[in-house]
Amino acid sequence: MKQMIKLNNDRYRLGYHVSALAGWINDPNGFCYYKGYYHIFYQYHPYSADWGPMHWGHARSKDLVHWESLPIALAPDTKADEDGCFSGSAIVKDDVLYLIYTGHHYYDDGDPDHFWQNQNLAYSTDGINFTKYENNPIIASAPEDNTHHFRDPKVWEKDGKYYMILGSQGKDGVGRAITYRSDDLKDWQYLGVIAKANGLTTEGFMWECPDFFELAGKDILLLSPQGIEAQGQKYLNLFQTGYFVGNFDYSTNTFEHGGFTELDHGHDFYATQTTLAPDGRRLVFGWMDMWESEFPEKADGWAGALTLPRELELKDDQLYMRPVKEAVQLRTAEISVWNKQVTEKTLLCENEHQAEIDLILTTDQAFELAFTDQDKQVKLTFDQATHTFTLLNGDARYASIKPNSELKLQIFIDTSSLEIFINDGEAVFTERFYFDNAPQVWLTAKAQCLTQVYRLDGQAI
Ligand code: FRU
Repeated sequence: MKQMIKLNNDRYRLGYHVSALAGWINDPNGFCYYKGYYHIFYQYHPYSADWGPMHWGHARSKDLVHWESLPIALAPDTKADEDGCFSGSAIVKDDVLYLIYTGHHYYDDGDPDHFWQNQNLAYSTDGINFTKYENNPIIASAPEDNTHHFRDPKVWEKDGKYYMILGSQGKDGVGRAITYRSDDLKDWQYLGVIAKANGLTTEGFMWECPDFFELAGKDILLLSPQGIEAQGQKYLNLFQTGYFVGNFDYSTNTFEHGGFTELDHGHDFYATQTTLAPDGRRLVFGWMDMWESEFPEKADGWAGALTLPRELELKDDQLYMRPVKEAVQLRTAEISVWNKQVTEKTLLCENEHQAEIDLILTTDQAFELAFTDQDKQVKLTFDQATHTFTLLNGDARYASIKPNSELKLQIFIDTSSLEIFINDGEAVFTERFYFDNAPQVWLTAKAQCLTQVYRLDGQAI
């Protein structure tokens, strides 16, 4: 029997972010609310700290803050998903929780790029134990004009019908999203392409993890395209996550939309998935890492984590993303609160592996925030002239905001992660960092500064 990998060092372990007990994780999957709990699943390889045959790991929470790890929900153990249970989503129908996911299959020639994919169903009535549907696959193969890239189903209900959007690549080599419709989640009818990349290098050769939802009267396609080339201060990660805002016509399966916009400006953000909370909020998780990055925690028997759950809001056709309001429950102590004019380098926080720093800065000058440990640092600078933030963590990432003399920063530190929310989610940087000690956080500014620093729960997971 294969042995699950074990943790051998907790130096980078996160205190309030969902990650696996050990092993590799990537995309969030199956985000939903079922019988009193939020559920989040994730792409999981329990036998090593590297990506491998995908399982679905699982955690649940009553409050989006305290998470309980549950047994593996799906393993690649049937003919329909023999080489991996790839990403997918969840939906509740008649009190039953359904998972819809991609089955991954290699041809027998040892070439990892030589594969095919289908779509499958599993269900549960307790939200813990899942049974695979006996007639899997529910969609056996990709449409005629599609390549082998055919994955990551996101399912939703509209006026009594179920819709599925899938990440795909057309035979012309261009990334696109396609949809299907069903009455019962089992028999699916192909509807067609709802959006496709307007240029290979500008919008991608393959669209992963599409998500489709209504927000503030608009329809939003959130997705993770592969293959967009860097352009000035944009698209600097290996792969991007971003969105199109528009209007979808269900009667014709057409989506009129604007251009592609990145959702997060940090180094470590990918493969988002949303759900609708019972109170109507649109919530989102992302993978807090990036393909092919270094993952120093692999040496400790694990790799990868999810972001804080965040709320999405649409303002003037721009998605704002901020931590869920429940995140205040993470606060275990108030470390400092002050309001004064700062003129020199000021220490905001030290010795805290888990902390939240809230700043309101009133200034017409540039400023800088540095997270440091010995010779290592992550640095955020703001240039008033261009309204641009630059985040240095190795190399640089950028975000521009609307002109504003008052800047609000909400910063979440968790051992090896940093999430910086600017002006209630107008711009966000998500970062992993690897220091030997908890960071010292320094502000260099000439500004009126209202500061609140909180210690956060290091055992919420
Ligand atoms: C995105 C992705 C998905 C796929 C999964 C495999 O990060 O490549 O398209 O289903 O990861 O783990």
